[in-house]
Amino acid sequence: DWTMAEFRATKVAEIREQVGSGRVICGLSGGVDSSVAAILIHEAIGDQLTCVFVDHGLLRLNEREQVEKLFRDHYKIPLVVVDAEARFMAGLAGVTDPEKKRKFIGGEFIAVFEEEAKKLGGADFLAQGTLYPDVIESVSFTGGPSVTIKSHHNVGGLPERMNMKLVEPLRELFKDEVRLLGKELGLNDLFVGRHPFPGPGLAIRIPGEVTKERCDILRKADAVYLDEIRNAGLYDAIWQAFAVLLPVRTVGVMGDGRTYDSVCALRAVTSTDGMTADIYPFDAAFLSRCATRIINEVKGINRVVYDYTSKPPGTIEWE
Ligand code: XMP
Repeated sequence: DWTMAEFRATKVAEIREQVGSGRVICGLSGGVDSSVAAILIHEAIGDQLTCVFVDHGLLRLNEREQVEKLFRDHYKIPLVVVDAEARFMAGLAGVTDPEKKRKFIGGEFIAVFEEEAKKLGGADFLAQGTLYPDVIESVSFTGGPSVTIKSHHNVGGLPERMNMKLVEPLRELFKDEVRLLGKELGLNDLFVGRHPFPGPGLAIRIPGEVTKERCDILRKADAVYLDEIRNAGLYDAIWQAFAVLLPVRTVGVMGDGRTYDSVCALRAVTSTDGMTADIYPFDAAFLSRCATRIINEVKGINRVVYDYTSKPPGTIEWE
């Protein structure tokens, strides 16, 4: 029987013990997990921690600005922001295979991260917001033979290469517990309640080739969809909701003109840990409001569909 206040105190002591006077570097993703890990570690060791946020151009609307505000301005945690959009887009040009995308993004992320770590003069430890389900799922979750469903984005390999040890204070926790810990550390409900966002970002929500132009289109559609979900008071009832931009164009009519633009799929699921999921049963009026707004407000999309697939047999992300 333990509370989050006790967990916090125990972990702070453990981190101090583990790190000593060493230097820690933490990759922030903008998500709840790495944020909570960073804030907890900062509480333990203060400015021995430096956070690095890589903007790979695959982020949601205004995400980078939100991270800067929270970490630099609010928590006063040393933060380096790397603008790496151009090199990620260059590397993703022509890549359509989901696993190749994932592997490129993971590898490039490590390369960028390593360069930044070197600029900072290196570190003794690498901090990560690894959760219990990450520990299991990256091994195998199908129960059958050990099949890789998706190569998860992580900085595996980096610690050895750079001779760093890992600090992973959230390894025993499930998502709902991380949210409680985040609140305990002073994060507001809006932030701790944020839906999970995958490391490869929008790239795995753009089947086919990823370009800056398509990321910009998807960012806008996603923001409209999430705005509608918040306005309807449904955000907290949903585990994850996002838009997907399909590599398919269909014919439409707008005013008295013909359109020939992309299809956007909307996804929303309920889940407790991301390992299984059910679709969220929006009512028809809600979905048609989203479709109308997205088509009116986002140039490049002229058709919107809703994904009715649970996990299994689907996965939550499309790639
Ligand atoms: P799937 O698509 O496998 O996703 O059903 C399960 C959960 O994991 C998230 N996800 C990722 N998270 N790196 C991450 O940090 C990744 O590479 C990655 N791929 C999927 C996904 O958003 C969902 O919450």
